[in-house]
Amino acid sequence: MAPSADFRSDTLTKPTAAMKAAMLEAPLGDDVFGEDPTVIALERSVARRFGREAGLFCPSGTMCNQLAIVCHTRPGEELIADRLHHIYQYEAAGYAFHAGLGINLLEGDRGRPTAEQVEAAIQPDDPHKPPSRLVVLENTCNKGGGAVYPLSEAQRMQALCRERGLRLHLDGARLFNALVADAEKALSAQGSASGESPSEALLAEVDRGAQAWGAAVDSISVCLSKGLGCPVGSVLIGDQAFIDAARRMRKRFGGGMRQAGILAAAGLYALDHHVARMADDHARARRIGQALAERPWVKSLRPVETNIAIAELHPDRPMAAVLAALSSGGVEAIDMSPTLLRFVTHLDVDDAAVERAIDCLQRVP
Ligand SMILES: Cc1ncc(COP(=O)(O)O)c(C=O)c1O
Repeated sequence: MAPSADFRSDTLTKPTAAMKAAMLEAPLGDDVFGEDPTVIALERSVARRFGREAGLFCPSGTMCNQLAIVCHTRPGEELIADRLHHIYQYEAAGYAFHAGLGINLLEGDRGRPTAEQVEAAIQPDDPHKPPSRLVVLENTCNKGGGAVYPLSEAQRMQALCRERGLRLHLDGARLFNALVADAEKALSAQGSASGESPSEALLAEVDRGAQAWGAAVDSISVCLSKGLGCPVGSVLIGDQAFIDAARRMRKRFGGGMRQAGILAAAGLYALDHHVARMADDHARARRIGQALAERPWVKSLRPVETNIAIAELHPDRPMAAVLAALSSGGVEAIDMSPTLLRFVTHLDVDDAAVERAIDCLQRVP
């Protein structure tokens, strides 16, 4: 049988031959001494792309989020986030362990709380209450099914945060998926652009979106190891003073890496070569979503906006049986809960893998 078509996560991708070549050729130095030219180039490139002063290369998205949480707050304060967010669901209560924070959880639409919901959650100035200090957004929201957070809502959130003295951090693990989805929408609304090739037009629109998002929040964590297809790494961006503080904190966390340029080179390569192709991942996820929606054992499908398709199974349909039937047909997906089945498209699943998944889904009785 052909190797399995693995849709469990976009973190599963292996570096391509061209990415590996870029990694092997990268000039290196000791980054804790501030001497790795490739790390410096990556940090500057991501910061510039979002119009921010500085960047910090970290081993993981979790570390970027945790550094941001610690650097934006003081112990005894509170952060406001959605119940579906990664920082609440999957970071082992790092906000409490590292930063000594309480958490105030909201129920947004697929992980996207509005400015009104946040405003209502901000604690009053009362000695019984922890001061609300930080709002976290997640774009796209993984557990929300790759839901795209609207830029206009982030701008309203920023105005609220400024008025009320809160900081605003974006978990942008899949921000490039969101930027590509927004760019596709903007281009289809504009009709065909003059002169530019479709991927040039898409990338120009992505860059416009990146500048706007960079201006809308205090800090962003951007993952390289998800839709961008790198083996390791995330970049935290913000203003210089914030990144200086995060760099010291990264050292405390043990995240200072030496010849890390070999990893940063993958990031530079991906930012040049793997952004426009995310549109293909999104189209593939939509096809899988359609096939899921047609299954009698699927109760509902979350809207498929990016590279994630999440189906809710009928309660009488055991998740384990569905996963086993898919697996025996050479297709891997993942359970997000006892009733939520997730497929994620990425660099290592092509059209043939999608055909196989659709065929296999049609055979699951
Ligand atoms: C939305 C989101 N944020 C943060 C992370 C953390 O990234 P890492 O696995 O690199 O720590 C993930 C990982 O899947 C994620 O989905």
